[in-house]
Amino acid sequence: MLTKKVEEALNEQLNRELYSAYLYMSISSSCTNRGLKGFANWFMVQYHEEMLHAMKFYEYINLQGGRVALKALAQPPSEFSSPLEMFNKTLEHEQFITKSINDLVELSISEKDHATQIFLHWYVTEQVEEESNDNEILAQLRIIRDDAQALMMLDRELAARMTTVPTEFSKGVQAALKGPAA
Ligand code: FEO
Repeated sequence: MLTKKVEEALNEQLNRELYSAYLYMSISSSCTNRGLKGFANWFMVQYHEEMLHAMKFYEYINLQGGRVALKALAQPPSEFSSPLEMFNKTLEHEQFITKSINDLVELSISEKDHATQIFLHWYVTEQVEEESNDNEILAQLRIIRDDAQALMMLDRELAARMTTVPTEFSKGVQAALKGPAA
């Protein structure tokens, strides 16, 4: 079971994960408009990852007999001056999400909710990877600066990123993670 405080905080995090998906969808569209297909692909893969993060919260709240309370999503930014600004905003957002997950862990400890604490471990590890990916690309963008040729090379590299998470959630995250029945 979930305490009221934990249930509310899990619902807030569900909204934040959905907003993350919304934000990356917006950045992906901006990349497409600029002719940066590889960057657009990278952010679309990120969109799918965020939908998985959101759906895991959705299922966990239901599994624990809680009530999913969907809230309005904030409007994400749609104008970006450069790919560098896109990734600066992405890292800034992921750092906010990391803090939010850490606050949730703290709450689950103070509420003596061991199940939620264990559930959140996956997100703690995931956030390390999220920030590391962003920092890696940001470092490359700082080297590239205004070099259009180098930017297009990075664009080709980012085009190779594949969606490795399930994108079909109608049967639930666990079923989707297992893939189609043999
Ligand atoms: Fe779900 Fe990128 O944090």
